[in-house]
Amino acid sequence: MATVLKDPGAELTYDMSDAAFYVEDRWQAPFAQMRAQDPIHWTEGGAFGDFWNVTSHKAIQHVEALPEIFSSSYEYGGITLADRIEDGTDLVMPMFIAMDRPKHTGQRRTVAPAFTPTEIKRMADDIRARTSELLDTLPWDQPFDWVDTVSIELTTQMLAILFDFPWADRRKLTEWSDWAGDIELAHDEDSRQERLKHLYEMGAYFKNLWDAKIDKEPTPDLISMMIHSDAMAEMDELEFMGNLILLIVGGNDTTRNSMSGLAYGLHHFPEQREKLEQNPDLIPNAVQEIIRWQTPLAHMRRTATADYDLFGKSIKKGDKLALWYISGNRDESVFEDADSIIVDRENARRHLAFGYGIHRCVGARLAELQIAILLEEMAKRRMRVNVLAEPERVRACFVHGYRSMQVQLSKY
Ligand code: HEM
Repeated sequence: MATVLKDPGAELTYDMSDAAFYVEDRWQAPFAQMRAQDPIHWTEGGAFGDFWNVTSHKAIQHVEALPEIFSSSYEYGGITLADRIEDGTDLVMPMFIAMDRPKHTGQRRTVAPAFTPTEIKRMADDIRARTSELLDTLPWDQPFDWVDTVSIELTTQMLAILFDFPWADRRKLTEWSDWAGDIELAHDEDSRQERLKHLYEMGAYFKNLWDAKIDKEPTPDLISMMIHSDAMAEMDELEFMGNLILLIVGGNDTTRNSMSGLAYGLHHFPEQREKLEQNPDLIPNAVQEIIRWQTPLAHMRRTATADYDLFGKSIKKGDKLALWYISGNRDESVFEDADSIIVDRENARRHLAFGYGIHRCVGARLAELQIAILLEEMAKRRMRVNVLAEPERVRACFVHGYRSMQVQLSKY
């Protein structure tokens, strides 16, 4: 059923870059209204300035398919609505997610070999063993925080495996990523400085790991792969750091919040949860559906490099566009009853949570694997997660997720 608009004639005065919509979980109705009335909608004076809201599935795909016109480049402001601070104090670490062709192509190639089906298969056993181990330590008889105990821990372990990162220090990955990915910090100078401090600490740590692997035989982890790739020869130290941060941040909040969304979402659709419990063959499709429903990154930003007529809207060179995946994934013209989780939804795979086109998430297969393994191992234990109270959510318009969520397990 489509979301009913309380006041379909109301003016669209929402600023969807306001983090309050997400921390209070009330973004659904305003986006539904935009999709219905003005799917490519201009907002003036938003929390991060003026921008176009691209809210329909069709328009988001259209924009992503034109990377020459709609740039991801950090030179124009990159991939989040927050702009670079141009006073020379900002740390600019170029990452390939925020580059255009041809540079993007070369740098993406340096990490892509870590995500081939063979590599994913190689990591799967390790990920499964760690996931099993963790699930076996969970308490059945008392409440605990699912976000910290399960989502953060499993995601951090997955990244530590991928990077061959010192196991005992793995929570540093989480800490750094949280600082790096929080664009809301740009609003406050002290927090911005604190963020830079953490990024420099991270840089120094990775420099040591790098030094330990350089001039050594290649090993099947990301740092070694980057060292031994052709494009690396042309990457300076900041670019190398930028790409490392990209891989950590890219994999961290996203996978974590899918695992939290899995617990929260299935709890709210108990019939669907039961369907999945009774039929574990649905797990691969349910993984897609949970990622669609959660959409762990609410938007990616593009900047127009030329004037363009986008379905009747005059986009001007230099305009910012927010591609609201979180809205496109609830587009009723593509996903029937889009606000509901339907574990056997036929077209769940059409979701846009991984983006589309040349920047489509390079880690998608790894994320899907981790989430599928979690569901499979829960099924083996007949483990059901009951959410005890509304979770605390992330205050951000970029990362869409949960800070904490009290749960209690039961057996079905
Ligand atoms: C459910 C989990 C994940 C979600 C929802 C997600 C989402 C995204 C999105 C929306 C993009 C940008 C696409 C675009 O601009 O069109 C992206 C790109 C990227 N992601 Fe993910 N991601 C996830 C997991 C991961 C993991 C596990 C890794 C690596 C460890 C990763 C690494 C990257 C990288 C490196 C890029 C840049 C690709 C490029 O620019 O060519 N992501 N991801």
